[in-house]
Amino acid sequence: MFKTTDLLIVEDDESMVKVLEKIAKECRWNFCIARSGTEALEIFNRDVIEVALVDIKLPGFNGLQILEHVKKNRYLTEIILMTGVGTVETAVSAIKMGAYDYLTKPFDDIRQVITLVEKAKERYRLLHKIKELERQNVDQFEFEDIIGRSPKMQEVYRIIEAIAPTNSTVLITGDSGTGKELVATAIHRRSNRKEKPFVVINCAAIPEQLLESELFGHKKGSFTGAVNDKRGLFEEADTGTIFLDEIGEVSLAIQVKLLRVLQEGEVRPIGSNITKKVGVRLLAATNKDLAKLIKEGRFREDLYYRLNVINIILPPLKDRSEDISLLAYYFLKKHSARLKKTVDKISVDVLQTLQNYDWMGNVRELENIIERAAVLANTDTIFAKELPPQILGQSFYVTEDAGPKDLTKFPYQEAKDRALASFNRTYLASLLKQTSGNISIASERAGMDRSNFKKIIRRYNIDIAEFKHALKMKSN
Ligand SMILES: Nc1ncnc2c1ncn2[C@@H]1O[C@H](COP(=O)(O)OP(=O)(O)OP(=O)(O)O)[C@@H](O)[C@H]1O
Ligand SMILES: [Mg+2]
Repeated sequence: MFKTTDLLIVEDDESMVKVLEKIAKECRWNFCIARSGTEALEIFNRDVIEVALVDIKLPGFNGLQILEHVKKNRYLTEIILMTGVGTVETAVSAIKMGAYDYLTKPFDDIRQVITLVEKAKERYRLLHKIKELERQNVDQFEFEDIIGRSPKMQEVYRIIEAIAPTNSTVLITGDSGTGKELVATAIHRRSNRKEKPFVVINCAAIPEQLLESELFGHKKGSFTGAVNDKRGLFEEADTGTIFLDEIGEVSLAIQVKLLRVLQEGEVRPIGSNITKKVGVRLLAATNKDLAKLIKEGRFREDLYYRLNVINIILPPLKDRSEDISLLAYYFLKKHSARLKKTVDKISVDVLQTLQNYDWMGNVRELENIIERAAVLANTDTIFAKELPPQILGQSFYVTEDAGPKDLTKFPYQEAKDRALASFNRTYLASLLKQTSGNISIASERAGMDRSNFKKIIRRYNIDIAEFKHALKMKSN
């Protein structure tokens, strides 16, 4: 059994060892110390190390050789190199070799050391999770085409399982793209009616006059264009299930008729005076707040109570972050197969970006983004350059102080300076937000060297601590 250690300190200078040991104890990291390169390699081969703080100059193997050994053996350990004066150049090339970052000794501020180690630990854990996901079969978290392992989704599966075999009406609510239609389909498939018709109708997509005839049918000649008798969807769905999507869009007149179906189990086609019995199970969905519609007089309260016998609430994607990478891999597998490509990996940067994004469009938006990336990818891995700009950083040009519309208030030169400044601020802030304040990664993405990048950040008064702080809050 391997032992997992948060931090390995590789340092031969005793006074430096003391400093780092003190920090590690205060932070309650589980750590160990190696005083030479040889000793460090022994520990790497024996234990699982999350993060290693490695001095570049060491007896035995030096810092770069240790880094090389770790990368060659595909250990997931994140390496932070420590450099004295004169070895900064080496440290920069070490980052190209895959080191996480470097620290210059003596430390100006030990908080910097702590933040860097914490961030490296977070990255290690993310990477570890990714490796697990790559190995794992996503299918084990699948329930009737619904993917999710978060406790919230597990609860949804549990409810579906319990209510599917009953005849109860179900109201499925949740924001756009959260999977309401998938849930309705799953309920039907798990019910005793699964061999019977499953009729889906999107109430928002059909004009009101037509909707009534679609749902309940009509008699020949009952209105212009009614050239034949027509059976309604309720009759079509008899003995099976009908799914009324976007029920919040239905007019009050049709709501009365729906109430009648639910209460009496009968429909009356337009232009007919004969009612027909139907045995249909009704499922309905909406992304509207029905309680609010009731208050505004746009939705009947009695119908609401009839529909809301069982309510399944689908949580927004951002509230179930454990599902994000799982879904990303699921969609990648699906679209990669469809496109006959072999893209099956997602870079850590991309996963980190996906984790932090707002997901207003929920799962549908995630699927679109992965599909697009699968199309663009020309290796087996999805990288940040394959993500659309909206996810990499919102609103480049619009700012609170001087949006593009307001700029005409200023003379040309001033307007240009303001636009440029606001572009710089938004661009830099977005980059830093994505990289949780990691200057090395941010400058690399910007295609600038680290010191120039730092200069610009200073010029625009951007406080890096703010982005690092956001990360700390997140990991708490
Ligand atoms: N948990 C999930 N697992 C796999 N795919 C999902 C999941 N949730 C949603 N999807 C996919 O996302 C897309 C949107 O899902 P669906 O149409 O069910 O959402 P919706 O809640 O009905 O959205 P809207 O309110 O916009 O109609 C579909 O392609 C669906 O397959
Ligand atoms: Mg839908």
